[in-house]
Amino acid sequence: MDVNMNVSGKLSALQVMRDAPVIPVIVLNDVKQAVLLARALVAGGIRMLEVTLRTPQALACIEAIARDVPDAVVGAGTVRSAADAQACAMAGARFVVSPGYTHAVGQACRDAGLALLPGVATGSEIMMAQEDGLSELKFFPALQAGGTAMLKAWSGPFGDVKFCPTGGVSMANAAEFLALPNVVCVGGSWLTPAEAVARGDWAQVTALAQQACLLVRKDI
Ligand code: 3PG
Repeated sequence: MDVNMNVSGKLSALQVMRDAPVIPVIVLNDVKQAVLLARALVAGGIRMLEVTLRTPQALACIEAIARDVPDAVVGAGTVRSAADAQACAMAGARFVVSPGYTHAVGQACRDAGLALLPGVATGSEIMMAQEDGLSELKFFPALQAGGTAMLKAWSGPFGDVKFCPTGGVSMANAAEFLALPNVVCVGGSWLTPAEAVARGDWAQVTALAQQACLLVRKDI
């Protein structure tokens, strides 16, 4: 983590992206696991945590992390509507990651003071996000939608856009993504394997976070 970065107050999407080489994509089924998992990631050097709104317990998990893990910065993932954005702001999320982009989600995040990393997979989606002032974007699903070749192609027409590729990224290919000049960080679920979370193997989660922090992130 970038220990020099002040993460109190309103965050920008670039601050969220620059804190560590990887944003973990987290699925939680049990609120009791939320705080322990967040502490394990923070112990490994990762504090920007994307808790996906994919389970009925997700908002309660966001609330628990926001309340009990002051060193973590909790965000919400899989935000697909303005109502989702409002609910996760109420729960204490500081940033939002979405699998796609709509003007309504953009507006709701602006209204709630939440940093937003919206998902894009085409040039038109990038242009729509940029029309609303967003130039730090999640490339999703990164591997399936063209991987590093797509990011290289976009660096021409969209040279002012910074990406967080997510979807199909792992320790095996993260360095290739991070080497690109338009990539600030990557996202992925590999830091929080479902089996490790289910059996409460927090040491494994910390070890995976530490390993991810050794990936080189350019200072952009
Ligand atoms: C997701 O939406 O689940 C994320 O993109 C994570 O994808 P991954 O499991 O391939 O890392």
